[in-house]
Amino acid sequence: GVSARPFLPEVSTGESSQSIARLREAAAVCQGCDLHGPATQTVFGVGNPNAKLVLVGEQPGDREDLAGEPFVGPAGQLLRETLNDVGLDPAELYITNSVKHFKFKPTGKRRLHVKPAAREVAACRPWLEAELDVIRPKMVVALGATAAGVLLGPGFRLLKSRGQVQRSDHAKWTIATYHPSAILRVPNEATRETMRQAFLDDLHFAAEHYR
Ligand code: URA
Ligand code: SF4
Repeated sequence: GVSARPFLPEVSTGESSQSIARLREAAAVCQGCDLHGPATQTVFGVGNPNAKLVLVGEQPGDREDLAGEPFVGPAGQLLRETLNDVGLDPAELYITNSVKHFKFKPTGKRRLHVKPAAREVAACRPWLEAELDVIRPKMVVALGATAAGVLLGPGFRLLKSRGQVQRSDHAKWTIATYHPSAILRVPNEATRETMRQAFLDDLHFAAEHYR
């Protein structure tokens, strides 16, 4: 089946900064699934290779695809505002995605986000696992159901267990919260505000416990 696995270099878990740089270089030419074709570039994780807290999103969006950096569009703005509200400096963290290429449907001049298929999430998973193996953070926060599924398994229910500390293979403290894009998409203002507050609470908890 499709997998990023053949594109992964061997890296030592000692020199985090060097190892992340090697993974990033290799991921730039990954053809582990079909998503690399239409996309502009691989969007690898950014931030501190020695981070104690790693944030994992779903996949890059339109803006991220063009910039080559995760969370620089509207969802990124909500994420960064909220990090700022809870006193977390993005430069101190490591921020990445479950899938490293943007999946979209071209519609006229706009490119519409399409949810990655399970086989694409599975194909890309070795990159995320390699990032987490190198960084070995104390805490991982999954942003949304896709990342939660990768980190906590397909049986994990975001709406039931949001914000509760779970143990995963990759961190003693693993928490899943809403995806900022999901919050932005809610049409009802009161519901959106409730979700935004829960998102803030979860990141506040992370800020208090990740060190
Ligand atoms: N949504 C994500 O999951 N990741 C990004 O990088 C941007 C939007
Ligand atoms: Fe490779 Fe992941 Fe891109 Fe697929 S989405 S080509 S597995 S980097």
